[in-house]
This record gives sequence, C-alpha cells and structure tokens, in this order.
Amino acid sequence: MVDLGTGSGAIALSLAAERPHVNVWAVDRSPDAVAVARANLAGLAGSAATRVRVVEGDWWGGLPAELAGHIDLLVSNPPYISSGEMAELDPQVRDWEPRMALEAGQRGTEAIEAILSEAGEWLAERAAAVIELAPHQAPEAEHLARQAGFVAEVRADLAGRPRTLVARR
Ligand SMILES: C[S@@+](CC[C@H](N)C(=O)[O-])C[C@H]1O[C@@H](n2cnc3c(N)ncnc32)[C@H](O)[C@@H]1O
Repeated sequence: MVDLGTGSGAIALSLAAERPHVNVWAVDRSPDAVAVARANLAGLAGSAATRVRVVEGDWWGGLPAELAGHIDLLVSNPPYISSGEMAELDPQVRDWEPRMALEAGQRGTEAIEAILSEAGEWLAERAAAVIELAPHQAPEAEHLARQAGFVAEVRADLAGRPRTLVARR
C-alpha cells in the first residue's frame, strides 16, 4: 500500500503495525516530513519496521516505476485548504503547520485531483483509494474519482460529516 503525503508517517506506520503482511510506501515532498517519518519508523517495534519505506517525492513520482499497477491500497490525507480559506483558518493550525501540509491551491482540491489523475496507472485491479477531504469538496471529489475511472462514494466520519472519499477500480 501507499500513503501519499505521509507527514509524520502516522497513517503509514499504523497500517503496517495493524496489518502484519502489508508492505507500505510512505511518500512526502517535504524533506523535513520525511526526516520525522523516518525517525518515527526507527521507533516502530517488530516486523512492521521492516515493511515500511519512507521516500521523498511528489505524490506518485516518489515511487519506483516497477510498482506501477501493483498497489492494492492508496491512502492519503493531502492538503485540501484553498488559498482563500487559509486566512480564516484557526491560527493554532495555520501558524504551526507547514503551509505545504495545508494549502492545496485556489480551489482546495488540486492535490486530490493530482493524486486521482495518476491513480489508474499505479493501482492494481480491484484496488481501493481512501482520501481525506473537506465536507464541501465531497461532490467534486466524487466527480474527479469517476472521471479517473473509479466507482466512488464519500463516507462520513464519526461526527457524521462527509470526510472520506472511498474509490474502487
Ligand atoms: C495534511 S498533511 C498530512 C500528514 C499525515 N498524512 C497525517 O495525516 O497526519 C499533508 C502532507 O502532504 C505533503 N505534501 C504536500 N504536497 C505534496 C506533494 N506534492 N507530494 C507529496 N507530499 C506532499 C505535506 O508535506 C504534508 O506532510
């Protein structure tokens, strides 16, 4: 499986720890995030640590070409704040998180679109993609996923808000 925009590696490392047979590629464009994820990987116990690779790169571009068509699961919590929304963001988030972790572009869905547009080349048959988004982005994200050839739906989080795109080939 692949975690695109892994940040500290929280999702990638958790999945490796929870699922004893998965191999995980964790990708981030930020060298600082990669360093943190690698430090966290060093603290991971047992066999999970041997099944995670943390690499620096731009979304799918961080992966070796031979993985194309062989990935069973994509997870991503990408940046999804629009440039206009940045000013209204809670200062506790805006002033402490790196901008690259938050701001996606003018629309807010640019990163989701970039990930979905190439997903078809990398995912195996019957693979799934699970991507976090903001509630108001649900219709556009479903549209982008269908345009990329997926069957897609947005599922609610525990508070009942539409927050997760689940797409299947
Ligand atoms: C919202 S944070 C999520 C971090 C982590 N996955 C989590 O859930 O805590 C988004 C991450 O995407 C990374 N990112 C932004 N643009 C990227 C790109 N073009 N390619 C790869 N990673 C990128 C950021 O550096 C940041 O670590």
